[in-house]
Amino acid sequence: MRILVVGSGGREHALTWKLAQNPAVEKIYCAPGNGGTAELAENIPISSGDIDKLAQFAEEERIDLTVVGPEAPLVAGIVNEFEKRGLKIFGPRKEAALIEGSKVFAKELMERYGIPTGKAKVFEDFEEAKKYLKSVSPPLVVKADGLAAGKGVSVCFSLEEAEVALKSCFVERKFGEAGDRVIIEEYLEGEEVSFFVLTDGSSALPLLTAQDYKRVFDGDKGPNTGGMGSYSPAPFMNTQLEKKIMEEIMLPTVEALKREGREYKGVLYGGLIMTSDGPKVLEFNCRFGDPETQAILPLLESDLLEIMMAVVEENLREYRLNWRDEKCVDVVLASGGYPGKYEVGYLIEGIEEASRVRNVCLFHAGTKRGEDNKLYTSGGRVLNVSARGRSYREARERAYEAIEKIRFEGMHFRKDIGEKGISYEEGDR
Ligand code: GLY
Repeated sequence: MRILVVGSGGREHALTWKLAQNPAVEKIYCAPGNGGTAELAENIPISSGDIDKLAQFAEEERIDLTVVGPEAPLVAGIVNEFEKRGLKIFGPRKEAALIEGSKVFAKELMERYGIPTGKAKVFEDFEEAKKYLKSVSPPLVVKADGLAAGKGVSVCFSLEEAEVALKSCFVERKFGEAGDRVIIEEYLEGEEVSFFVLTDGSSALPLLTAQDYKRVFDGDKGPNTGGMGSYSPAPFMNTQLEKKIMEEIMLPTVEALKREGREYKGVLYGGLIMTSDGPKVLEFNCRFGDPETQAILPLLESDLLEIMMAVVEENLREYRLNWRDEKCVDVVLASGGYPGKYEVGYLIEGIEEASRVRNVCLFHAGTKRGEDNKLYTSGGRVLNVSARGRSYREARERAYEAIEKIRFEGMHFRKDIGEKGISYEEGDR
């Protein structure tokens, strides 16, 4: 089989790595890929947003399955275009991807079908929204409606902060059209969990859960990032809770989308929070999580390609997934200054030694091979060091042991990834 993976991050390297394990795979292309995918696949210089060029490439290269990593091409209709050309592709059509493309759509869908989520109000006007602030008390959450590269959500602990967030959408137009509508939502408290299901539109199969670390510094301090690490599974998850989430949230959402003529095929990612009032939805995403995928896929024993084909061909009902009875901890190594301004082009050393640490996988993000065939930094998040172990402690120790062998100018990372898992495991919580 000939596969095309769209995207260039750690998530796409992990997907490529897992897909490559199927012996029927003859060739994988990544568009545009990174320094890590180049070792398993052929990188092609087409951006993930260039839908026409990607479809043309898939036709010319007789691609049997395209797998899309990031949300933007899904929301823009890459699946619709590929299907129009008779090409097989894993992911939701744009009508269904709207669940991530519009937070207002997602919120109204949840309200219509009684799917548990925070109470919210939608605004299209700055003055109206400001007036509403007088009737509520902080903390609250201000969310831009559309895609904002992970920057559209502000948790506000004062009304002044909320007004600043509203202003950045409506007045400064920081997110362009994505900020034309804004949601003001109640602030929910609890443990967050990333909950993924594979669905062919009718049946749905949960993956292992994960927790990610959004803030740049230890102890969840500092600004938000694209994710500084993750671990899987979430330590508080159990069969009963998984069943409740499937029955109250994930299956009703798949069903609701189908009833609205927006059948969802692909992976549906629920960003959930475990409140004292039960699990609720913070947001839905139409894709795999990054960096959650880098902690989940190393634990998957089943073949990913077969399952993705079952999703595309709508016969998922027959499938079961097998998982290793282990834990996985994924630590992101970032460029100096990230998530602010950072320089690229620094030599990365120690990759070989690090990958020799037992049960460690290195998933590249912002890396690229130089003309000297050495590896250089090329982005804010550079590498994921992902390690499996029989316990959270063992997985975590292996990840940090591997990190000790890696060096590049300005490299920084969080030192507390997976600690929460250890606290649960060893009874401190
Ligand atoms: N880990 C957050 C995301 O993938 O959106």
